[in-house]
Amino acid sequence: MSRINIGNNAFILPEPQSIVGTHYNGKANFMALAWLTRVNYQPCLFAITVNKNHATGLGIVESGEFSINIPHEGMHRETDVMGLLSGKRVDKSQFFDLHYGELKKAPLIRECPIAMECKLVKTVELDTNIMFIGELMGTWTEEKYMTDGYIDIEKVKPMTLSMPDNHYWAIGRKIGKAWHDGKELKDRLKK
Ligand SMILES: Cc1cc2nc3c(=O)[nH]c(=O)nc-3n(C[C@H](O)[C@H](O)[C@H](O)COP(=O)(O)O)c2cc1C
Repeated sequence: MSRINIGNNAFILPEPQSIVGTHYNGKANFMALAWLTRVNYQPCLFAITVNKNHATGLGIVESGEFSINIPHEGMHRETDVMGLLSGKRVDKSQFFDLHYGELKKAPLIRECPIAMECKLVKTVELDTNIMFIGELMGTWTEEKYMTDGYIDIEKVKPMTLSMPDNHYWAIGRKIGKAWHDGKELKDRLKK
């Protein structure tokens, strides 16, 4: 079967959907954000990339802190509206029920099953976006989202995003075990 090259502007499928918070002009501000990944094991570092025009980027530079809030699948409207309006024009600070952990400029959303507070440790300026790398200082959740001491993806029900068709997706079914399922293929690699 021949494979086709569809160009140089592709997206990763799926993208984890979050709501990033920070303080902008002295108030909590939030934006929908899907360009997010963990980038270091110890200490635990997360990278997000934010378009240079967004209030959020200015807020993170100013405050040195941000939050990564993971909404459940029932929150796609609330997530979406955070991506439709800029904190430069509207006040998004009252939209969610907030709390704070160790960091006082990383607003945490109570409605989100997981809310993580990050301290900015590195900034990488790219062409259209700025990559902010933050060290995780605390992860806030509730017992009801956990099983055996760990956050349970089936209880959290996070959302993912597909681009460029721009749809929100619920997560699918469990299909295997990582660092395990490849073992039966190991013989193929032995000399
Ligand atoms: C589903 C969704 C995902 C988004 N992901 C990102 C992203 O990863 N990075 C980014 O810079 N903008 C992203 N945006 C756009 C911002 O959320 C949007 O421009 C927002 O209004 C910026 O708000 P602010 O100016 O208050 O920071 C996304 C928007 C939506 C709807």
